[in-house]
Amino acid sequence: MTALSDPVSSRTHPAPRERVAADETVEIAMTVNGTEATVAVPPRAHLADVLREQLGLTGTHLGCEHGVCGMCTIMVDGQAARACLLFAVQCEGADIVTVEGLGTPDDQHPLQRAFSAHHGLQCGFCTPGMLMSSYDLLRSTPDVTAEELPEQMSGVLCRCTGYRGILAAVDDVAQTYPDGVPGPKACGHRTLVGRGSGGGSGAGAPAGEIPAAALPEQVELPSGPPSAVVEVTSTLRSPVDRVWTVLNDFDLLARCLPGARLTEVLDGDRYRGRATVALGPVKLSFDGLAQVVERDPAAHRLRFHAQGADAGGSATRADVVLAAESGPDGGTVLTAHADVHLTGRVAQFGRALAGDVSRRMFEQFAASVDEAAETGSVTAPGRGAQLRLLLGTARDTVGALARRGLGRLRARLRRP
Ligand code: FES
Ligand code: FES
Repeated sequence: MTALSDPVSSRTHPAPRERVAADETVEIAMTVNGTEATVAVPPRAHLADVLREQLGLTGTHLGCEHGVCGMCTIMVDGQAARACLLFAVQCEGADIVTVEGLGTPDDQHPLQRAFSAHHGLQCGFCTPGMLMSSYDLLRSTPDVTAEELPEQMSGVLCRCTGYRGILAAVDDVAQTYPDGVPGPKACGHRTLVGRGSGGGSGAGAPAGEIPAAALPEQVELPSGPPSAVVEVTSTLRSPVDRVWTVLNDFDLLARCLPGARLTEVLDGDRYRGRATVALGPVKLSFDGLAQVVERDPAAHRLRFHAQGADAGGSATRADVVLAAESGPDGGTVLTAHADVHLTGRVAQFGRALAGDVSRRMFEQFAASVDEAAETGSVTAPGRGAQLRLLLGTARDTVGALARRGLGRLRARLRRP
């Protein structure tokens, strides 16, 4: 198997720290997938937990937490290491690459493409460890032969026993790149999304702020069919002219969207911002760009494109049209139509759930637009709004299940 050297002991250490009590935290700085991150960690936290829990990089899997299974293999200062065997505090100043840094869904690393082509993943649990281990192998030993691969790759265990496909994939890449496999394709400045205490932050930016270099300059919508189409019509109390005043003010408009905030106003009717969506245990923070592509005061119609990505590889793009027209009793009928494209972890929500979440966001948005039209400002939706979003979804799901159960019970009672 590939030799797992000790990357921590082989690099220059910073000055030793003072003793730290077990219940205290230590602030450490490291570079993770090209982004400098500072996290406050308990001294006994291992690196895999910190990557997963505090930086939201859940691609690093944990199997045994004893250095046996290899699921948690990452690169530390250019060498493969078991993240479960490293204390995070040992990694002050380290340069770390996780599977998220290897490639993106839109721009996969050759190893990722080969694993897919050769059916080298079944449940996928070992895949991050296999990818990082094979990446390390092909970097250090590009002339590895097919005969040597079983032993060289034996440091990572696959509980699905999918070894044939895995070895075929690694051999394919070894043949294609005899001079060494290409480097990681997804390392660069990006926002690392903290989830536990301490959190993480991008280089040179306060925690949660967006390094401008990480974000696109233009929104690019995919050409394929959307993951979900949302159309919500709401009746507002406010007259249409006042509603248009809100739609025409993008800053105010952004504050009406639950979990969203503007961070920068750019030229060309473009806006940078952040949106946070929590769904059960999954919390996603999207940094992105919105670009107004149509503003029609006469028709009270606004169209914008939006694009966002989170540190875990989820991405969302949307084509949104907001249209207001006079409604009953001097009010307004506000229609929101959105074609939503999802990729990465968020796409696993499925069409129905994604549509449901988007619909609830628009419903809350419409209520906030009404408030802003009446008062000129809006109560910050913030965390409470996200929680309401969750509770609403859960309540409806539970209600639907209960209704289905009752229906079945009644049908059974009616049976002779
Ligand atoms: S979880 Fe680290 S080697 Fe098994
Ligand atoms: S594919 Fe399931 S553990 Fe390897």
